[in-house]
Amino acid sequence: MCLAIIWFIIPLLSGNLFFYPTGPVRLKSSFRQAPLLTAAPVRALVDEQISIEGRFLPPHSPVTVCARLHSDDGDLWESFAHYNTNADGTVSLTREASIGGSYLGCEPMGLFWGMQPAPGAREGLRLRKKNVETPSMVNISLLEGHVSPNEGPLPELAAVTTERWYMAPGVRRTEIRQNGVVGTLFLPPGPGPFPAMLDLWGMGGGLPEYRSSLFASKGYASLVVAYIGHKDLPGPPKRVNVGDSYFKAAFHLLQDHSQVVADRIGIIGLSFGCYLTLRIATRIGVQPSCLICINGPVGSTVPLRDASGKTEVFESDQKYWTYDDQGHVIFKEVSLPANLFPESIVKLEKLTCPLMYIVGEDDLSASSKETADLIEETLRAAGKSQLFTRLSYPGAGHLIEPPYSPNSRSSMWSIKPKKLVTLWGGYPAPHAAAQEDSWKKILDFMESNLRC
Ligand SMILES: *[C@@H]1O[C@H](CO)[C@@H](O)[C@H](O)[C@H]1NC(C)=O
Repeated sequence: MCLAIIWFIIPLLSGNLFFYPTGPVRLKSSFRQAPLLTAAPVRALVDEQISIEGRFLPPHSPVTVCARLHSDDGDLWESFAHYNTNADGTVSLTREASIGGSYLGCEPMGLFWGMQPAPGAREGLRLRKKNVETPSMVNISLLEGHVSPNEGPLPELAAVTTERWYMAPGVRRTEIRQNGVVGTLFLPPGPGPFPAMLDLWGMGGGLPEYRSSLFASKGYASLVVAYIGHKDLPGPPKRVNVGDSYFKAAFHLLQDHSQVVADRIGIIGLSFGCYLTLRIATRIGVQPSCLICINGPVGSTVPLRDASGKTEVFESDQKYWTYDDQGHVIFKEVSLPANLFPESIVKLEKLTCPLMYIVGEDDLSASSKETADLIEETLRAAGKSQLFTRLSYPGAGHLIEPPYSPNSRSSMWSIKPKKLVTLWGGYPAPHAAAQEDSWKKILDFMESNLRC
C-alpha cells in the first residue's frame, strides 16, 4: 500500500515525469536517509578508544570531521581531519586515513589528541581536567568537503556529542585533609580491600586528580597528594614546605585505610614527583611494592632548605635555566645528574622494589635519558638490574599523561613575578602514541606488581 503511494508521489514532487523510479533500488536512493554520525561507545572513560563513523553520505566524496570542547576554564579546543567516503558512502575513523587537518593517517583517536586551542585563544594553554566528577563533552561534527572549521559557520551534515569520563560508575572521591596531608583519595566500587597507588605530580603544583580517578576506575585505590601550590598547604607559596614526614604520613594514610591492601602499594611520579617517588622509596622507612617514574630527576632541581627535603623557592637558583629564541624557558639542564643539589640525590642502590622509568626522548623539561642511564647503571652495579624497566619513546615530550589528551609543546609556567612560558617538548603523533603505549604498560606493571 505505502509503496504504491510513494511510487506515485515521487514523480509529482520532483515535477519531472522522467524521474520515475524504475525499481526498488532507485526508490531507496530517492529517499536517502539523512547523514548520520555515530560514536561508540558514546559515553566512555577518557582512556578508552572509541569508534567514530559517518554513514548515509555520498560515495567517494570529501568530508571533514571536527571536534570541539570547552575546557573547565572555558577555553575552546578543536581539531579536524579530512577524509573521503567509501563506495558505500561511509567513513570510519578506526579504519581509514585522514589526508589533512590536525593529523594524518589512520588515527582512531586523532580528533582527541590532535586538539589545539582555537584561534584567538589565551596564550600558553594546556588542556587539563579540573573537575573529574563531570565528563568532558566533546562535540563531533561532519562537514561537507575538505574545509577548515575556522572558515566561518559551515552547515553540519551530522553531529554527535561524546562523553569522556574520568571516573567509572561507582568510583568514590574523598577530599583528604588529615595528618597534614592535602590530597584526594579515589576508591573503586565495591568493598575492597584494593591494591593502591600514591600519585605525585610536578613542581607546577596543585592537585591534579585525573590520573588517580582513572586508577580507581581500574580497581586501585589511589591517593593524589599536593606538596606545592595548594592553598591548604603551609606557606609561603612557591616552595615546598613539607618534607619526608609529610610523604610518610600520606603513605601511611593509604596503608592504614581499611579498604587498602597494606602491602600492595605503588608510587607514581612525574617530573619532580619522580624524585619524590625515589626519595620516599629509599629514605623514609616505607616499603612500596613498585615505582613508576615519568621524566623526572633523581635529586632536587631546587635548593633544599633542610635535610627533610623542604626546598627554597623554585626560582632561587636559575643557573641552569636556558631559553629558546622566543624567550621560553627550558628546564632540561637543571635535572642533569651532575647539576642536581648533591645532598638531595637519592641512594638508588637502596631500592628494593621494581621500578619502571619512562623516557620521552624529546623531553625539554628534564634530562630523562641521562637519568634513566644513571639509574640503570647504579642498579646494575648494585646487582639489582632485575628491578629496572625502561620505556623510551622517540618524539615524546615531558608531559606523558593518560592517553588521548593533547600534548602542549609549551605552556604558561608562571604569570608572577614575570610571565614565563616553558617548553615541554614532544610532537603530537609520537607523543600520543607514547601516552597510549605507556599507559597500557603502566597498568600491566601495576597488575603484575600489586595484584599477584
Ligand atoms: C556542544 O553542543 C552543545 C549542544 O548543541 C552546545 O550547547 C555546546 O556549546 C557545544 N560545545 C562546543 C564546545 O561547541
